[in-house]
Amino acid sequence: MPRLGVNVDHVATLREARRITYPDPVTAAALAELAGAECIVVHLREDRRHIKDRDLQILRETVQTSLNMEMAAPAEMVKIASQIRPNVSTLVPERREELTTEGGLDVLKNRERIGQVVKTLKGAGIKVSLFIDPVLEQIRASHEVGGDAIEIHTGLYCEAKTPHEVDEELKKVMIASREANGFGLEVKGGHGLNYFNVSRIADIPEIEELSIGHSIVARAVLVGMERAVREMIALIQRPPLV
Ligand code: PXP
Repeated sequence: MPRLGVNVDHVATLREARRITYPDPVTAAALAELAGAECIVVHLREDRRHIKDRDLQILRETVQTSLNMEMAAPAEMVKIASQIRPNVSTLVPERREELTTEGGLDVLKNRERIGQVVKTLKGAGIKVSLFIDPVLEQIRASHEVGGDAIEIHTGLYCEAKTPHEVDEELKKVMIASREANGFGLEVKGGHGLNYFNVSRIADIPEIEELSIGHSIVARAVLVGMERAVREMIALIQRPPLV
């Protein structure tokens, strides 16, 4: 059964709506851990629209489980990661105009640059995960550039409209998970997962960790962080349906 990584970016989004000091993603991370989260995830974006350097710094000192820093690959981010030394860096594509991460990283096309970044981060003692679409060529390239793990983009599964489309997208994630496992990569999943769609992804045996943000923070606003995290863990770790 997968571990839950809780992404607290959107606690910072709420703070930045007023550009003040609360709610603090650091406090949210501590509550998520008390409720059973086994990893805290933050995305330090180039435009610092939600998580700030200060958040990352304090989280490095306070997170008791594992800190996963999502980041694009420009030199500035590689430098910050090498200084902060999160347990894991997840490389993601980033465009300023996007509302959230859209699509996986094209490791195949950017093999050289990504390979250099992976090497630098691993040299700093950081495990590297690559956020990719469930596509065999991207999995193979992730292995070839030296990634320790992949995070499979579950966005298309989550956005699928008809039961047939949902099944098709799920199948892609299942096949990709098996392929990645065959390459010796640790397999994670994330993006768009919520309380209604998470179970079938959590049932995929090769998936070791799920990274979930928006749906948990949205529920936390109404019922509190600890309850929101516990309810997600209950869904992820319940016995498989089939
Ligand atoms: N994984 C990655 C790589 C992401 O970029 C995001 C969004 O920050 C997530 C997981 C979490 O997605 P969501 O907020 O939709 O749960």
